[in-house]
Amino acid sequence: MTKIGVIAGSVRKGSFNKMLAKLAVARLEAHGAVVTEVDLGALELPIYAAELEADNFPPDALRLKQILSEQDGLLVVSPEYNGSIPPLLKNAIDWASRPTGDEGMIALTAYRGKAAAIMSASLSPFGGMRGLMHLRQILTTVQMTVIPDQVVIPAAHAAYESDGQLKDELPVTLVDITAARLIKVAAALAG
Ligand code: FNR
Repeated sequence: MTKIGVIAGSVRKGSFNKMLAKLAVARLEAHGAVVTEVDLGALELPIYAAELEADNFPPDALRLKQILSEQDGLLVVSPEYNGSIPPLLKNAIDWASRPTGDEGMIALTAYRGKAAAIMSASLSPFGGMRGLMHLRQILTTVQMTVIPDQVVIPAAHAAYESDGQLKDELPVTLVDITAARLIKVAAALAG
């Protein structure tokens, strides 16, 4: 069974990205993945600081790193903030990138050699496309293979039915294709 972690980059009540993540989780599970959803709102992750890391590595940062380390792949569904990714998400990615125990500086055990996929819902007509470019670069930097398939939901405030389903057929298909491909690549890389 292929294990996929799912992180939403917003903890806002009614978040369009959390809604998209929920739809993606359903498709990942339909394609046979074992999904672990990471709720960043449930983790106490102070802004990364070297002193904090040295003196008292936050227990939730360690927990996040452990959860991600157990996955074969990762799906990140995030809003775009001023053309990039939200600090909430960047901070979480940064904490989980840090070496712990006997690991060397660039061990990157939460990420290295694993597959990732990215999605974004935003209010703008571009659907968070600029944020995804940064997110792709960041995940590549931590040594993940980010699949080419990605999903953007423009005008997210008008994109969903009241039951949380997407109104248009195309993004529904793209979420499904992306979920299936992520599992396939994650399984192949996990070898
Ligand atoms: C935004 N938003 C936004 N949208 C966008 O398409 N491009 C952008 O650069 C930005 N920048 C931005 C900065 C900040 C600080 C905030 C708070 C918001 C709007 C964003 O798309 C909107 O708030 C979404 O609803 C956020 O996603 P969730 O919380 O609904 O998942």
